[in-house]
Order: sequence, then structure tokens, then C-alpha cells
Amino acid sequence: MNHQTLLETCRDDFPSLKRQRNEKPPVYMDSACTTLVPRQVIAAMNEYYTDYPSCGGRRSHHWFAEEVTNRVEGNSEKGIKGARQSIAEFINAESEKEIVFTLNTTHAINTVAMGFKFRPGDVVLLTDREHNSNLLPWLRLQKSGQIKVEHTTADDGNGFDLNAFESHFKEKRVRLVSMAWTSNVTGATLPAKEIITIAHRYGARVLLDGAQTVPHQAVDVHALDVDFLAFSLHKMCGPRGVGVLYAKRELLGQGAGEWEAGEDVIEPSTLGGGTVEDTTYNSYRLLEGPERFEAGIPNYSGLIASGATVEYLRQIGMERVTAHEGQLNSHLTKALLDRYGDTGWFNILGPQEASQRGGVLTFEVRRPNAVGFATELNARNNIMIRDGVFCVHSYFNERFGLNWIHPKSHRDHRMIYRISLYLYNTLEECDVFMETLDEIFKERSYVE
Ligand SMILES: Cc1ncc(COP(=O)(O)O)c(C=O)c1O
Repeated sequence: MNHQTLLETCRDDFPSLKRQRNEKPPVYMDSACTTLVPRQVIAAMNEYYTDYPSCGGRRSHHWFAEEVTNRVEGNSEKGIKGARQSIAEFINAESEKEIVFTLNTTHAINTVAMGFKFRPGDVVLLTDREHNSNLLPWLRLQKSGQIKVEHTTADDGNGFDLNAFESHFKEKRVRLVSMAWTSNVTGATLPAKEIITIAHRYGARVLLDGAQTVPHQAVDVHALDVDFLAFSLHKMCGPRGVGVLYAKRELLGQGAGEWEAGEDVIEPSTLGGGTVEDTTYNSYRLLEGPERFEAGIPNYSGLIASGATVEYLRQIGMERVTAHEGQLNSHLTKALLDRYGDTGWFNILGPQEASQRGGVLTFEVRRPNAVGFATELNARNNIMIRDGVFCVHSYFNERFGLNWIHPKSHRDHRMIYRISLYLYNTLEECDVFMETLDEIFKERSYVE
């Protein structure tokens, strides 16, 4: 099946695409924020609440609880155990014991930040365009004097500067590298393998924020040799409120002790029900493996549906997803640059080459009154895109100066808009976007 045929069939899976407003369908181009959900995933969530809405895991052991944990249908394991296994296979982890369920990417990154044992003088190295979720946890540790945060420049289209990256290790004791593998601003993907090889050469660990990578390309944590990987199911057609922290097994602690003295073993930041083997009035023995990080009753329906999510993507094939997004992004990039590329007020952020930006196309407009296009696109043709700073305030403030978003005069407006495409978008939708944007630009007298 080529990816065009695949697309035609998969659009049918998304009930929200069948809706109409003003007799027009939705044109959803905000998938970097959160994606639409196919019926297979919705069915898995509903099934939990309809058929066996009880607790599971290591708690109760009755009929319903057994189904929460171990439900098998046909040849596929549909309970939480099967979901953890499917996710491990999806990213090629060695074992499901390396998969910690979290609330989202933010929670997964915080789990590492709060659990890693830093020594005075340790540096955590970020890029210059991190999502707040991979900035604030580190700034907090810096504020309390536990680490020093440094930034290295990511990719603006000339490739990632590995020499500049390596220079940080020569000057300081970098303990941990924590970087957005794919930027949610530019869509550029870092050369993770090279970054990890260099970091390991200097004894540093690497945490990849894969929020914008895992949903869009095949990922092999084993081949990468990455230490930690964080991602969210809601950005890959899955349930909200479920994320994953992949960690090499030895970094999650192996014994059932409180937590090991091992240098880089992370300590759970939340303890409680579900994390322990045994307790007395004065002591506790933690479970071995990921469960020691999963305190309290979780979002069972979400965990179960996370298995259905990766199964859905696996059946489509991640290579096809990547190819499809690439085709759409090339089409749209060409249309935008052909029409506005020479104006001097239109600029695509990051690499100009669409093939280096996955499904992300972020552009800047510098014109009088350059605000409100997202609202206009939505009102006219149900086109849903994002404007603003995409939770990456620090990067825009550094690049454009503080207060750039609230200029003194409307003549100085500079506004950023992000289109983010996924497997259900079509070339026709890209054309509707282009035509509607051009209509707005004409009305504002930006173009003839
Ligand atoms: C690069 C990146 N990191 C982290 C996050 C935070 O993800 P979540 O809200 O699922 O925790 C996002 C969300 O947009 C993101 O794009």
C-alpha cells in the first residue's frame, strides 16, 4: 500500500474528521500540540470503562482486575502488561521493564530532573530552544544551586554544530544532556546518535525529549544507546494524560532496596501505593522496575489505550507516516515560498528545506497588524493552526528581544504561526490553507 492509499483509508478512522461546521469539514493542523484520536483507541478507552472498570496491576486479583492487567483477545495482549510490552517493542527497548508510565513528557522529564543525583558543579546542557517542559525543571535545580544550566545552539538549517556542542564538555563537567530531539518550533531533528556518542565519551548521560519525534519516525532506543527518552501518547493519536519515560534498566534501579547508591540511578520523586514490595512502620522496600515510579492509581483506560495506539501506528508503519508528512510539508513549503518567499516580510523558521522539518512549518510575518490569522483561518474554513510562542518563550525572547510580542505600535507587528501536519492530513487541506491565507493577505493588502 502506498502512503496515499493508506491515508485515504486511515482518515475514516477519525470520527472528529467527519464533523462539519458551516457545512465544511475540519482542517486540523495543530498536531504538534495534540493529535486527533482514531476509533480503535477510543474503543480501547471505552472498553475499560464499560466492561472492567476496576483497579489492576499488583492490587486486586479478581475477574475485572485480571482483565485490566492481562486482558488477552485473539493473539493480542490488551491489558496494561501488553501495553507496556507493545510500547517497548515500538521503540525497540530491550525490555518492558524499561518503560515507566508517566502523565506526559513534562512529567517524564521532571521524573529525571527530580530523581538524578547531581553533585555540586554539575552542568546540564540544553539547546537554545527548549520547550518550557525541558527548561523549567532544570532552571529550578539551578536556582537551588544544584546544577548549572548551559545552552548550545540548535539547528537553523546549517546542521547541528557538533564541535560547539563538544566544547561544553571540554570546559565544564557536563553530567546530563537534555534536549528536544525534534524542535516543536522549527521541526528540525538533532543528530541524536552523534550527540549521544560524544556525551558518553565524556561520561555524561543523555535525556532526549522525544515529544515531537516518537510520533513521527521509527525510533530505536537500543541502536541509539540513549539513556532516557520522554514522550507523550496524546501527540501520537493516543489518550491524554499518558506519557512514557524510557530509561535504561540499570538507571531505574535493579534491587528492591530503597534505591541504589549507583551513580546515575534515579530516585522516584513520588512514593506511595503501588511502588513498594513491603513496608513496616519505619521502613520500606521498593518494587524493582518501572512500577516504583508509578505511585497511586493511574489512568487505567489511558494505559490500556496506549497499547492500542502503538498498535495502530505500527500497522500503518512509521516510515509511511514520515514519508506522508514529508510530501505534505514539501507541497506547502513550495506554495508558501513561491508566493511570499521574496516579499522580505515572510520567513520560515528553521531549515528552509521541508525534508528537514518533518510535519512542522512555522512562519513569521512582519507586517502592520500581522495578528489574528489563526482566528481568521478558523472562522473562514475551520483551519486549526497555532500562533504565539509554543511554550518556547525563552528562545523568542532571546532572538527578538523582550516585549517583541507586544510592540508599541501595530506597525511593528511580528507574529509567528505554526502548521503541524500528521498522518490524516491531505494535499487538498494544504491547498485550502494556502487559498484561505492568501485571501486574508489580500484583504490586508499584503499582496495583490
Ligand atoms: C518538544 C516538546 N517537549 C515537551 C512538550 C510537553 O509535552 P506534554 O505537554 O505532553 O508534557 C511538548 C509539547 O508540545 C513539546 O513539543
